[in-house]
Amino acid sequence: MGLVYNRKDSTEETGKNIVFNLELAQKHVLVTGANGQLGSELQRAAAFHPANLIFHFTDVNELDITNPTAVDHFMASHGIAYIVNCAAYTAVDKAEDDVERCFLINRDAVKNLAESAARHNAKVIHVSTDYVFDGTGTRPYRETDPVNPQSVYGRSKQEAETLLRQICPVSVVIRTAWLYSVFGNNFVKTMIRLGQEKESLNVVADQKGTPTNAADLADAILKIINYTEASGDFKAGIYHYSNEGETTWYDFTRAIHALKGITTCKVSPVTTAEYPTKAVRPKYSVLDKTKIKEMFGIKIPDWKASLEKVLEEL
Ligand SMILES: NC(=O)c1ccc[n+]([C@@H]2O[C@H](COP(=O)([O-])OP(=O)(O)OC[C@H]3O[C@@H](n4cnc5c(N)ncnc54)[C@H](OP(=O)(O)O)[C@@H]3O)[C@@H](O)[C@H]2O)c1
Repeated sequence: MGLVYNRKDSTEETGKNIVFNLELAQKHVLVTGANGQLGSELQRAAAFHPANLIFHFTDVNELDITNPTAVDHFMASHGIAYIVNCAAYTAVDKAEDDVERCFLINRDAVKNLAESAARHNAKVIHVSTDYVFDGTGTRPYRETDPVNPQSVYGRSKQEAETLLRQICPVSVVIRTAWLYSVFGNNFVKTMIRLGQEKESLNVVADQKGTPTNAADLADAILKIINYTEASGDFKAGIYHYSNEGETTWYDFTRAIHALKGITTCKVSPVTTAEYPTKAVRPKYSVLDKTKIKEMFGIKIPDWKASLEKVLEEL
C-alpha cells in the first residue's frame, strides 16, 4: 500500500501563499453483499468519493463471508482498513423455516468478519435492523433501549451485533428499517407492480415505522468514513438511521401510488391480525436518529421527499 499525493495542499512556500502538501495514505474499503440494495447504492455513491479510498465491492461469488479463510485471505491480501458489511440473509419470513442458513449468514459470518478485522486492525461498519426491537414502544427507539427480537431474522441480527462489539469493539453498528432502492426487490417496487396489476389491495395499517432510501443510508456510511479519515477519530458504537418522519405500510403504499399516478387500484387498510405473516414484525419501530445526526453532522431527508426522488428514477 503506497502513499499518494492526491490533494494540492503541499508545504512549498510560493511567495505569500503557503500551499499544504498532505500525504494521504490510500485506504482500502471492503464492501460485502455489494449486489444488494444498499451495496449497489454504495457502489453508486463511492464514484463521487475522495480518491484516497479504494473500494473493493464483493458479493457472495467474489467473497463468501461465511468462509472465514476466504475472509481472512481477502483482508490480508488487500490490506483492508474498513469493512462495510451489507451482506445479509434478508428473507424475513423464509428465515422462520431456514433458521440455520439465516444464522450462518447474519450471525456466524459477522463473527468471521469481526475476528478478521480484529486480527488486521480494521474498522467495521455493520448494518443491522429495527427488528431487534419487539415493537411495543411508544416513542422513537434509542440505541440504549432494550432489545427483544421476535423473529428468527431479528434474533440472528441481534446476536451478530453483540458478537461484533465483543470481538471487534472498533465497530459501528447502524440499525436501519424499511429499506428500499431502485436496485433489487423491495416493498416500493412490489406496490407499484401490484398497483398496476390489481384493482384492489389490502395493506397493513397498524404497523408504524419509517422507510429508508438506501441511497441516503449509503451517503451516511460514507460520511462516517470521511469523518473518521478527517478527524482520525472512529466513533464506535450503535447508531440508528432511517429517513425522517413516520408512517404505516398502508400510508406508505398510498404515497407510492399517488406519486406514481396509480389511480386504478383501491388500497384498503387492514390489521396485522387480518394479514398474518410467518415472521412477527414490530408494531412500532420508529428509530430515534439524534445520535448519528449529532455525532457526524448528518442531515436526514424526510421519507416522502426521498421516496419522490427514487420514484422519479424508477
Ligand atoms: N431490506 C430491508 O428492508 C432492511 C431493513 C432493515 C435492515 N436491513 C439490513 O440492511 C442491510 C442491507 O440490506 P439489503 O436490503 O441491501 O439486503 P439485500 O438486498 O438482500 O442484499 C444482501 C446481499 O448480500 C448477499 N449475500 C448473501 N449471503 C452472502 C454471503 N454469504 N457472502 C456475501 N454476500 C452474501 C446477497 O446475495 P443473494 O441475493 O445472492 O443472497 C445480497 O446480494 C442488511 O444487513 C439487512 O439486514 C434491511
